[in-house]
Amino acid sequence: MSNQSLLTEGWLPGVRSLSFGGDYNPEQWPEEVWAEDLELMRRAGVNLVSIGIFSWGLLEPRPGEFDFGWLDRVIEGLHGAGIRVDLGTPTVVPPQWFWQQNPHVRPVMRDGTVLATASRGICCPSSPEYAEAAVRITTELASRYGDHPALSLWHVHNEYGAPVSECYCEVSAAAFREWLQARYQTLEALNHAWGTAFWGQTYGEWAQVGVPAQSATTSNPAHRLDFARFSNEELLGCFTRERDVLHELSPGIPVTTNFMATNCPSMDLWKWSREVDVVANDHYLTAADPRSQVGLALDADLTRSLAGGRPWILMEHSSSAVNWQPRNLAKAPGEMARNSLSHLARGADAILFFQWRASRRGAEKFHSAMLPHAGANSRVFQEIVQLGADLQGLDAVRGSQVKAQAAILWDWESLWAQDLDWRPTVDLFPRQQVREYYERLWRDKVTVDFAHPTADLSAYQVVLAPASYLLTAEAVANLTAYVEGGGHLVVGPFSGVVDQDDAVHEGGWNGAVRDLLQVSVEEVLPLPADGQVTLSGDLRGSIWTEDLLPLEAETVVEYLDGPAAGKAAVTRRTLGSGTATYVSTVLDHETLTGVLDPVLKLAGVSVQRELPWDLELVSRHGNEGAEYVFAINHAATPVDLPVAGSDLLTGENVSDSAKIPAGGVRVLRR
Ligand code: GLA
Repeated sequence: MSNQSLLTEGWLPGVRSLSFGGDYNPEQWPEEVWAEDLELMRRAGVNLVSIGIFSWGLLEPRPGEFDFGWLDRVIEGLHGAGIRVDLGTPTVVPPQWFWQQNPHVRPVMRDGTVLATASRGICCPSSPEYAEAAVRITTELASRYGDHPALSLWHVHNEYGAPVSECYCEVSAAAFREWLQARYQTLEALNHAWGTAFWGQTYGEWAQVGVPAQSATTSNPAHRLDFARFSNEELLGCFTRERDVLHELSPGIPVTTNFMATNCPSMDLWKWSREVDVVANDHYLTAADPRSQVGLALDADLTRSLAGGRPWILMEHSSSAVNWQPRNLAKAPGEMARNSLSHLARGADAILFFQWRASRRGAEKFHSAMLPHAGANSRVFQEIVQLGADLQGLDAVRGSQVKAQAAILWDWESLWAQDLDWRPTVDLFPRQQVREYYERLWRDKVTVDFAHPTADLSAYQVVLAPASYLLTAEAVANLTAYVEGGGHLVVGPFSGVVDQDDAVHEGGWNGAVRDLLQVSVEEVLPLPADGQVTLSGDLRGSIWTEDLLPLEAETVVEYLDGPAAGKAAVTRRTLGSGTATYVSTVLDHETLTGVLDPVLKLAGVSVQRELPWDLELVSRHGNEGAEYVFAINHAATPVDLPVAGSDLLTGENVSDSAKIPAGGVRVLRR
């Protein structure tokens, strides 16, 4: 049971402003340092910290023996300083004694490797011993601190699914069998869904069904897809088990866990978001992405969508470099503020970091922090102090909403299915296709929500499905109703191919959407590595082409060369008052203008291409018609933005045009 009423009653208990802070790990430091922490937090305007996330081994040094003294002192110190507490359940790292007692709980990887334990995030999610120990420490924490006046939030575990989300041990196999029995009831149904007649895999007894561990060659794809579903649900079960303890013993305090919206491919966050009281997300820039600000915005928009449009928590991001990418680029001056305010602009009401003070020891000593190794006189800390002050100035934004005209479909199950091996090409990346469509709209200043293919889409003028390999009959009915109702739908290549069992739909390569799109995919024609095709209208496609047979659809773009030369590349049909466009090749964000512009026009969505592409523009909408326009300038030159309003950061009144400084941000209320 989720505690959603907490959200309608307000935000986090005791929180009356935008939240600012981060993971705080005082247990890594002598207590003398704690007073300085509090003083510097005060200077920076920190008002919420996450504590205790990794401290099970300190809190329960021996089985059933607890030491809460140090945590009592930490919480009292924070409370005295007026800093709200987000208290972790430390169940992401069981203590060493747990592993000594339960070596069999170490997860087994697909290739049979048994993971060692001197790390974190490793545990068989189906283990009864782990469940019992996790409930015990959670119960102790909830009983001791559940009604503490400093407590605003529970932070269960840490980043479920990362780095490991599946376990192939015997206990997991037994749990998987039970899960399959509940899903299919009969072995006949399982054999049918998995298509076990292929390669003679038919099961005659439940006991014969195992986990899809590494085999001689590729495994049954439906088996693997079900195992991905099962693994997601096992971890979700670990979360809800702790959450239920917390709800019971600490009523009124919301419970969350930190998602990684785009960085943990194995969790179906549509399912998770229904179970948390408030959505929280971690995001780190990808240094190798030359436009990582676009990736950030995509991640934030996906997070807001998971939150159903309600405010959410940026639980972690970094003040500067991380330490786990091949090349960890430091953030340039001003970049951290742009990143933070982009999350805020996209619906976050809490801006938190990993972590408060840089660790001297351990695996993350080269990761940036709010208070870096260089100390309080450093540029990074000065920027943190400035950001804390800016957030105070932006408090009016709290609770306001982001409105999107467009939605992009996002379905983890479809991604899992398409990620399996033996696909027609290794070059077709569904997440990259989503990114290109998203980036097109980001550059055009069109705000985007993400939606599951079965979600209510009626609020959107345009819906993009850049990569919908797996579509169920229910999803197709939903998309059809959307178009009939006047919506404008754009579907990308290799979509509507398989059903929930990864079985090809009847009716051709695009059997699920053939009637809706009124085009038949007769054959898929992937290109050689680095292959490109020329399209009419001066467009270029890459990676993938198809042999299309338009039915009742008109051809709007043709292949001029390549294996489908002379045939339709993009088609459109009208249905009711809406349209359905099919794009059968891979287009990048530049080329996409040629295909999306006519659809956006039909949908009445205006693009703002007269402004520089790298001016990020997005609004939050508050009570009584207030609009907060966030203008985030990622370029090295200033921009004049035609807008009138009052600047929340400087207090200046702007009558017709605001100068957005190079690398700067302005937030205008109008
Ligand atoms: C994750 C974890 C943190 C920390 C950061 C480093 O998000 O949750 O504990 O390891 O990464 O970037």
